[in-house]
Amino acid sequence: MATAMSGQPPLVDPAELIADPYAVYGRLREAGPVHRITGTDGLPAWLVTRYDDVRQALADPRFSLDKRNAKPGGYHGLALPPALDANLLNMDPPDHTRIRRLVSKAFTPRRVELLREPIRRTADRLLDAIAPHGHADLIASYAAPLPITVICDLLGVAPQNRQDFRSWTDALVAPDPARPETAKEAVRAMLGFFTGLLAAKRAAPADDLLSALIAVRDDEDRLTEDELMSLAFLILFAGYENTVHLIGNATLALLSNPDQLAALREDPGRLGAAVEELARFDGPAPLAIRRFPTEDVAIGGVTVPAGETVLLSLAAAHRDPHRFTDPDRLDIGRDGTGHLALGHGIHYCLGAPLARMETEIALAALLARFPGLALGVPHTGLKWRPSMRARGLRSLPVTY
Ligand code: HEM
Repeated sequence: MATAMSGQPPLVDPAELIADPYAVYGRLREAGPVHRITGTDGLPAWLVTRYDDVRQALADPRFSLDKRNAKPGGYHGLALPPALDANLLNMDPPDHTRIRRLVSKAFTPRRVELLREPIRRTADRLLDAIAPHGHADLIASYAAPLPITVICDLLGVAPQNRQDFRSWTDALVAPDPARPETAKEAVRAMLGFFTGLLAAKRAAPADDLLSALIAVRDDEDRLTEDELMSLAFLILFAGYENTVHLIGNATLALLSNPDQLAALREDPGRLGAAVEELARFDGPAPLAIRRFPTEDVAIGGVTVPAGETVLLSLAAAHRDPHRFTDPDRLDIGRDGTGHLALGHGIHYCLGAPLARMETEIALAALLARFPGLALGVPHTGLKWRPSMRARGLRSLPVTY
């Protein structure tokens, strides 16, 4: 990503952006509220850096998520087929409102609560498996398989049909430039997977979210086939991908801040607030979904023209000293409110209660099991996935 705007914007080194996005975004935030940048796709975008501006824009209806509001040639994201693309994160009201209303009839607090015990059991089973070894890669053995199991339980994927969704989601969020085919292959595989799954649920409905979504109606309103499929895809993708990396990033943050880890071990009742702080400190989504202004919009004194691509940097907002005191410090004693890690406004994370519950259970089980948990490699040896859109570790070696 390169930047060019008024003043003297600092240059951005893509490798640094992956290794330490907070340093890069911090410099950009200090240099100005909005920067015209060249994204990793080679196209121009506007990056918003300050907390107040980011929060306001997240809830501003003039910032559309519908790609039809992008100016011609101004944006080309991953070309998804309509059966995956008709999802909430590409939509504005009234379609968005209609679909969210339908989903909330099926994705109820009761359904989330029913997952609590299964999540605990899965966490314990995964920890049982690695306990004898004394060392493990926590991403591969814990942070990834836990959300896979949860999302499959939620959607109603039978154990024999579960897959390691990591290869698919990795192919989409952090494509390998040497293998441009992998993203397309992942899309094909996901489409095939969901087509089969939906057919199975229609034939034999069960007590799971997918069956409930098939059945859900609102007077004459119901989900179209594309909407249903896209929703299942979004829930799998957003629910799985983000949770793996929040658990991973949170564990790393605690292991890197022994005083905060000790405070949490001493008083596990602080876990709820700690998860909020960990989501602020190093959440899995450095950027919100791209948005397109439907008219020229002034942000921080800069006019962003209609139809251009706007990137709201949650990572930059979370380290804004005007909003958070001593923002680069992990402090589980903060009040925990105000972060934007789960979004804000009408697109606020649909799975937020599940995300919180899952992360809390994962951290509680891990810390209780391994009193001597420590990082297995020096910080400089950690490898991050090569994506500016998704912050997560390739692996997290630990000893215990
Ligand atoms: C730690 C975990 C998670 C994080 C950090 C996270 C983050 C987010 C964020 C930032 C947004 C808003 C994007 C924007 O406005 O640009 C969002 C939306 C969404 N999330 Fe999550 N999420 C997590 C877990 C989940 C889970 C577990 C599910 C489902 C089971 C889920 C489903 C969704 C859906 C469907 C939306 C779109 C909502 C809409 O457009 O109305 N997420 N999430």
